Amino acid sequence: MCGIVGYIGRQQAPPILMEGLSKLEYRGYDSAGIAVHDGHKINMLKAEGKLKNLAAKLSENPVEGCVGIGHTRWATHGAPSDVNSHPHTSEDMTIAVVHNGIIENYLSIKEELSAKGYRFVSETDTETVAHLIDFYYKAGNDFFDSVFMALDRIEGAYALGILCKDYPDTLIAVRKNCPLVVGIGEGENFIASDIPAILHHTRDVYFLDDNEIAVIKTDDIKIFDREKNTVEREVFNVKWDIDAAEKGGYEHFMIKEINEQPKIVQDVVSRRIPESSDTIDLEGINLRKEDLEKINRIYVVACGTAYHAGLIGKHLIEKVARIPVVADVASEFRYKDPILDEHTLLIVVSQSGETADTLEALRIAKRNNARVLAVVNAVGSSIAREADDVFYILAGPEISVASTKAFSAQVVALELIAFHIAMEVGKMTKEEFAEIKEELYALPAKISTILQKDKIEKLLAEKYLQSKNVFFIGRGLDYLISMEGSLKLKEIAYLHSEAYAAGELKHGPIAMIEDSTLVIALATQEELFEKTLSNIKEVKARGAKVIAIALEGNDGFKGEVDDVIYIPRANKMITPILANIPAQLFAYYVAYGLGTDIDQPRNLAKSVTVE
Ligand code: AGP
Repeated sequence: MCGIVGYIGRQQAPPILMEGLSKLEYRGYDSAGIAVHDGHKINMLKAEGKLKNLAAKLSENPVEGCVGIGHTRWATHGAPSDVNSHPHTSEDMTIAVVHNGIIENYLSIKEELSAKGYRFVSETDTETVAHLIDFYYKAGNDFFDSVFMALDRIEGAYALGILCKDYPDTLIAVRKNCPLVVGIGEGENFIASDIPAILHHTRDVYFLDDNEIAVIKTDDIKIFDREKNTVEREVFNVKWDIDAAEKGGYEHFMIKEINEQPKIVQDVVSRRIPESSDTIDLEGINLRKEDLEKINRIYVVACGTAYHAGLIGKHLIEKVARIPVVADVASEFRYKDPILDEHTLLIVVSQSGETADTLEALRIAKRNNARVLAVVNAVGSSIAREADDVFYILAGPEISVASTKAFSAQVVALELIAFHIAMEVGKMTKEEFAEIKEELYALPAKISTILQKDKIEKLLAEKYLQSKNVFFIGRGLDYLISMEGSLKLKEIAYLHSEAYAAGELKHGPIAMIEDSTLVIALATQEELFEKTLSNIKEVKARGAKVIAIALEGNDGFKGEVDDVIYIPRANKMITPILANIPAQLFAYYVAYGLGTDIDQPRNLAKSVTVE
């Protein structure tokens, strides 16, 4: 949720830390801070609010040194404030720590240390770690051993960057259940919670595994396990370009990422269905007939937008392969005592590959011998590394907190998985697939057509900007897209919005419809059109304003709705990807009109690494 960056080398650390933090601000953005070792002592600067506040402080009170750690925070323990910002230090600044995650047993350790005379200044769990390391250090242990002793005591999830006043040549990094990479430079090294923070400086990284500790010097990196054995790790070379993590002329990352969708969808499709092929190439993913014969239960589990993609995956696997699938949000699934064994396939979906609940769902499944297939964007992420099989969507870094391009790529990936399973179990013929293939190849151009006409969504956003309550309604796949459209509007425009299965409306929520309530009706599934139209009439009769999202050429709406956004026609299983684009654009332009912080909406963080 928060962002960590660290530097050790021959250059001045502060500008490198600040640049790294600017790339991580999307992960958490209520306060930020840096600690820099000047060769004699540790100096620290922290500021509540956006990074620019810290930058202002830094220009007034410059700090110098070639070793440092930095942090951008998303508050968990204690409100956003200067004092609660990271880094946290021991009282005499011997130890400085930045931390992502949660220390679950911090209260008992805090009590114990307070009784020994330690004085705590913040409300955070992290401060406990700084004092605890300091306690072992002052007891006569070296920096390295003191960190190990502290790790024996703390419980929870953490990525840590740690400095010690008496070790100006050492930066220690620790990982448990929170992502952390070590960047390998020449005469300099880095740590980061996320690759974009260091990509300007190096493309070579080590991914730390859980319970690993890296001792990093200017010209040396050593990785240890918790038994203090050294660990050999392969260097991972990051392939994607730094431009992918920049705005490239767009005003916001969100609109840039929305506009990347034709290319990303095209890439997912062409990687898996080469032009000459009449099947789907799921190379490396064990979903052949003989694998599927061993499976009698499939779950799809994820959070937020990834869960909505998962719902579409469930719908399609059931529709085309005729295999029952249970879809669940990970935060519920993990506490349900789900039925899992070696005949279960768990499909987890995650953009970041680090979402705590999804990761735990995966681990529960693995402990019960189930097979796990992960649909993931972030290469080398925890979920990708722990799953049995991975379908990488390779959509590039998604910086906007509101997920858009990852959703479209996830849906395409799940469709390919569904079609592949259907063919393997003999429910889809090569001829039927040939038609689908043609449709998938045509999809990027259809997405582009919608994007080129985005003035419609902009005008409608301006027209309905003052709406206080919004309902998204639809049936079947349209209902699933309603859920995603509604989530987007909530998270970036802060508008109260609900998604309802259109036929369910009259069982309660229709009581909420009054003059000028905005209803966005998705009606792109032709066989359900008449039914959805009746539901539209019901809300219109009660004073609602209705925008319909419909298929080109459908003029059955005439006189029934206030506005229509048309999307190109496509195979009905592929249409949800198209139907979602106007909803993304509408949410973006409403948020734009309302002047919200689109890329970094309030209270949210890009990757939710706490429960
Ligand atoms: C999407 O717009 C959200 N910000 C959020 O719901 C997100 O999809 C969810 O937290 C899951 O994240 P993941 O895909 O990284 O696991």
